[in-house]
Amino acid sequence: MSDKIPIVYLDGRFLPLDQARVSVMDRGFLFGDGVYEMMPVYGDRVFRLDEHLTRLARSLEAIDVPDPCSTGEWKSVVHELLEKNPAAGNRSIYIEVTRGTGDRNHIYESTRLKPTVFILCRSLAAVDYSGGVGAITHPDIRWDYCHIKAISLLPAVMLKQRASEAGCLEAILIRNGEVTEGAASNVFIVSDDRIMTPPRGNELLHGITRDLVIELLAGAGMACAETGVSERELRSADEIWITSSTMEVVPVVTLDGKKVGEGTPGPQWQRVRELYNAFKLKAPVAGVN
Ligand code: PDD
Repeated sequence: MSDKIPIVYLDGRFLPLDQARVSVMDRGFLFGDGVYEMMPVYGDRVFRLDEHLTRLARSLEAIDVPDPCSTGEWKSVVHELLEKNPAAGNRSIYIEVTRGTGDRNHIYESTRLKPTVFILCRSLAAVDYSGGVGAITHPDIRWDYCHIKAISLLPAVMLKQRASEAGCLEAILIRNGEVTEGAASNVFIVSDDRIMTPPRGNELLHGITRDLVIELLAGAGMACAETGVSERELRSADEIWITSSTMEVVPVVTLDGKKVGEGTPGPQWQRVRELYNAFKLKAPVAGVN
């Protein structure tokens, strides 16, 4: 798939990526006025599709954009797109919905705009993070509605760039002395055998991977407290993990250049990785209806 031009879905049509065009008057382009989802596809199985579609519906509702498709329609379009983009390895599905095309006016007239829908299927490179990654800390420079998966990602772009320039994978964000999340991931810490992650709220994205990890831990008798994590607790943690749909559960072994715990992936992470991999193998196929 990687050397072929992918087929994408745009506003009701399947077409090659290099022929897909969106108006320069699209509010996604002009204002970053839209929302998105990104999900992995293992073999033929879209991982946690229902959960991603539920979150997409919530994001759309939060920004007052009518959901352009029913759940069944989303599923059949996604599955048709997967059929048109066969690949040997894993893939990802990116769904973007913008408010649509109109005059450049901050005020939208929602009843007259038709949302733009774009879906991209790509190969998902297998990156091995099992040796651990580095992270920096950074003040959380984003807005107050981080639970909405908005396409206006300039702060995240700047934060990831800063992390990258420091030789790290992620920036862990601090607001009022508390950890919120990573620039593109959720954060867990282990401190004296206690596993903790910041609670759901408007300051962070309600990550599909985060929720699954909490569920898997509970099922294995390893409770995770959804509770505030202070910057001090982060800096003294025995283990730090970051989670996202494309990275899964990744151990952070250095924070601002200092070792986390022993400076190697910890035993609790090893366990959670086993649980995650076992779940991946038996996860149900998301139906088309
Ligand atoms: N980002 N927090 C933020 C700010 C994110 O952007 C992401 C994921 C997450 C993890 O959410 P989930 O487990 O549902 O993927 C948390 C995706 C992968 C992206 O922007 O491409």
